[in-house]
Amino acid sequence: MPTIRLICLTAVLNLNAFAAEQVVPLDPTTGMKIAPDWELVRNHCVICHSSQTFLRQRATEANWTSVLEWMQKHGGLWKLDAEVEKKIIKYLAINYGPGSADNYRRAQISATLMPPNPYATEARLKAEAKKKQGIIQSPANK
Ligand code: HEC
Repeated sequence: MPTIRLICLTAVLNLNAFAAEQVVPLDPTTGMKIAPDWELVRNHCVICHSSQTFLRQRATEANWTSVLEWMQKHGGLWKLDAEVEKKIIKYLAINYGPGSADNYRRAQISATLMPPNPYATEARLKAEAKKKQGIIQSPANK
């Protein structure tokens, strides 16, 4: 009896470990996660460019929405049906969301920590000096 209990316990623990890893199968052609609505996203987003343009991005729902708007303004993406657009954004945010905080791009390195710029022009050096004095704001100094 104890052996059976142990086997059951092991099975439950293994299932939990599997769930925690969330192994989502990938489409062999596009590399996209085969999750709800993935084909809808493939049909709209893998026409003009490779899936890698968006698979390597991580963004929140709001940021994926602005990617789509940017695509429509500058990439030639057509106007989408509201329902379709919602589904595309949901798929992207769920499967390619920011996840843990260390998944975001790192903050820009402070100008004071950067090596000297070998291609610096006079104008560039003047601007960098102003940044050091705090006359011009750089994102890292904000
Ligand atoms: C009609 C063509 C077209 C369609 C459809 C399209 N894109 Fe794009 N996409 C482009 C073009 C063109 C660029 C490059 C724009 C630029 O760099 O100015 C681009 C660039 C991108 C980038 C930036 C990649 C990078 O690394 O800079 C992302 C992200 C992206 N597209 C996501 C999407 C998503 C998500 C969809 C589906 C909703 C989509 N695209 C559908 C034309 C398209």
